[in-house]
Amino acid sequence: MKTYYLDHAATTPVDSQVLEVMWPYMHDHYGNASSIYRIGVENRKAINQARKTIADTLGALPEEIYFCSGGTEASNWAIKGYADTHPDLTEIITSTIEHHATLHACESLERKGHVLRKIDVDKDGFLDLKALEKAISKQTLMVTVIWGNNEIGTVQDIEAVSRICQKHDVALHVDAVQAVGQLPIDLTAVDIDLMTISAHKFYGPKGMGLLYIKKGTDVAPLIHGGRHEMNLRAGTECVAGIVGMAEALRRAVERQQAYHEHLSRLSTTFLAMARETFDDVRLNGPLPGRQRLPGLLSLSFRHIEGLQLAFALDRRGVFVSTGSACSADSLVPSHVLEAINVPELENLGTIRISFGHDNKTDDLPIILGHLQDALLELR
Ligand SMILES: Cc1ncc(COP(=O)(O)O)c(C=O)c1O
Repeated sequence: MKTYYLDHAATTPVDSQVLEVMWPYMHDHYGNASSIYRIGVENRKAINQARKTIADTLGALPEEIYFCSGGTEASNWAIKGYADTHPDLTEIITSTIEHHATLHACESLERKGHVLRKIDVDKDGFLDLKALEKAISKQTLMVTVIWGNNEIGTVQDIEAVSRICQKHDVALHVDAVQAVGQLPIDLTAVDIDLMTISAHKFYGPKGMGLLYIKKGTDVAPLIHGGRHEMNLRAGTECVAGIVGMAEALRRAVERQQAYHEHLSRLSTTFLAMARETFDDVRLNGPLPGRQRLPGLLSLSFRHIEGLQLAFALDRRGVFVSTGSACSADSLVPSHVLEAINVPELENLGTIRISFGHDNKTDDLPIILGHLQDALLELR
């Protein structure tokens, strides 16, 4: 059976060129980068080179790049680590449509006494910037917002958020996990204090991410132990993962514009086809364009369970997720869809399609046919 992977927002396959640069570090160059002899020192050099490549690619300094295990850790670290060094600042501002890594990290601070302010979004998922500015006080620890939303694809105006934060001298943490590779990111052009990145969303390895910490931003470690990562993140470095992430990021940024065009073509075409075929299909989030992640379509159907639809598509070789992959095994309505006022009936009838490099325009009619069959089977 031919299969169609349409869940690139959940994860992407590792590029073969990325695998190629990783492979030697899994086997031949196995030294611990902290060791004093040659095979350790050489790996330390490889890590430093990767850090420089990543910094150059993002418009950052090498000493602002801190490797860790992925997006979840990076966001937890940014939020809790910054709170640790600023005990006098007790209010945290976020949005109602954050990834659980951010939301739950904020809620863990709330349980310890912080005040958590969740700023509303409009029907397309755009932050109410006036409410955001109004929520800032002398006690505000930080503003933490997602750049490109993983469920509905809304792309926030991070420049505007950054200007507000600068005006009030408040730290800004941005979850850029879905944005990397799909949107241009230049840290010399926008002022961000902390930024989360995860390699497996841009054809790099899983279990590998980084936290960008702007020079002068004081963050305490989340993981304690040895003196790795400039004393801020303990644990023997995964050299293969670091080298792989650097190569994946370099390639993602180099191909970003072409990738954006490829993904936009696929989602615009598929959306038009779906709208022509199904009377009750609803697109969640903004219309395709500059303010939407190009490859992501959140589609709701009435009188259908998204989970059942995803299973019926799976039986036909089409892989999609429901609202969000992280909660794909449960029938809890998505908090993001709730925040943009999607009625519960459609909230639970939502699937997320996210295209990638290997998807082709020619595949779209076949995928649509499978979707038609799956809906017919369930209704
Ligand atoms: C927007 C967003 N933030 C954070 C994460 C967590 O990243 P990781 O899977 O690397 O822990 C994800 C992954 O789904 C995501 O989509």
